[in-house]
This record gives sequence, C-alpha cells and structure tokens, in this order.
Amino acid sequence: MIIAIDGPAAAGKGTLSRRIAETYGFSHLDTGLAYRATAKALLDAGLPLDDEAVAEGVAAKLDLGGLDRAVLSRHEIGEAASKVAVMPSVRRALVEAQRQFSRMLPGTVLDGRDIGTVVCPDAPVKFYVTASPEIRARRRYDEITGNGGAADYQAIFDDVKRRDERDMGRADSPLRPAADAHLLDTSEMSIEAAFQAAKIIIDAALNRNA
Ligand code: DC
Repeated sequence: MIIAIDGPAAAGKGTLSRRIAETYGFSHLDTGLAYRATAKALLDAGLPLDDEAVAEGVAAKLDLGGLDRAVLSRHEIGEAASKVAVMPSVRRALVEAQRQFSRMLPGTVLDGRDIGTVVCPDAPVKFYVTASPEIRARRRYDEITGNGGAADYQAIFDDVKRRDERDMGRADSPLRPAADAHLLDTSEMSIEAAFQAAKIIIDAALNRNA
C-alpha cells in the first residue's frame, strides 16, 4: 500500500503523513527533506544554488536514511530547497531512491509535491492537502513563535506565496493535484479532522485490496 500526499508548504501534510504512518504501521518519507539536505549541503560548502551539475552531484550522494528533520526544518532552507528543486537532474537523482522507499512493506506514506503525479503515479491512495496562503503563513508564524523564535508574519506570507509560485510554476514535476487525488482543504478543518477524512478513504482502499 502506497499513500501519496502532496500539497504546498505548511498545509499540514507532514503532520497528517506522520499520523497516517503511525496509525497503519507504515514507513514514512518526507521527500522535502532530500531537497532541503541538497540545498543545505550547497549552502554549507559556499556553492551556488543554481549550478545544475554541482547540485546533481550533491543530490546523488545523499543518504535518505540520514536526514535530520530538526536541522533541515529552518525556513531559509525550505526556500533554498525550492530553488534547487527546479533543476531536472537534481530531481532525477532523488526520485529513484524515493521510488525504492515506496516499495517497503507493509506500506509507505510519502509526502512532497510530485508524489501522486511523478514519483508514485500508481499509488492506490492519493491526497492533495491544501489551505489558503493566509492560513498557512499564520500556522508557520505560530509554529516559530511558539518555539520561542522571532517571526514577521508579512515576510512569511510573502515567502509562502513565492514558494507556491516557484513550486507550481516550474517545468519539471510542478506541484499540482493528480487527477485521482482526494482534496483535503485544511483551511477550515483541523489536522485531526483531515486525518479522520483520510482514514475513511484509506480503510476503503485497504478493504478493496484485502
Ligand atoms: O515540503 P518542504 O517544505 O520540506 O519542501 C521544500 C521544497 O522542496 C519545496 O518548496 C519544493 C521541494 N520539493 C519538491 O520539489 N518535491 C518534493 N517531492 C518535495 C519537496
């Protein structure tokens, strides 16, 4: 069983994916971490974010098992990851490892931008998790300030919009819902309510496969 979860930044995909993986005993892969790790390695080495050959070399050497969410979750790294992710050869270097992961038993949950469309187009269950840019920026703001950090709502909002445009507008594997994805709009819905809606759909798919 493969569950593909896509959507824009800060829509709640991560929380929802982890909750689903825990509930069903499936392995979870946050594919954004691979793009983030590639971007961070480039930044740490003082290398440019737009040299495709250099970035591909870094992406090809990544170990998907060794990615540290706490280190990679910083806002600026997300922005850098979005820039690195427009390059087709970087995507090619990362996607095969994601496909291999998806075949783990008894099942997997992968979240990202292109899981239902490119990485696992045959996944039996796909979700597209979204929310308005205002709500997503507010959630990011609350998360940062809740952890004792300083944040500027307007700057985060502008960043969310810019990231949406880049992720949806790129030529290779743009963010968009797969034709057979179930839409979950979390603007007016708690993540718990989204999980309950997702669970009904997953249980039905598991029953069909049983
Ligand atoms: O989900 P995230 O915020 O960690 O992702 C960071 C960036 O990585 C995102 O803005 C675009 C890119 N990304 C991608 O292009 N494809 C994926 N499957 C996951 C992330």
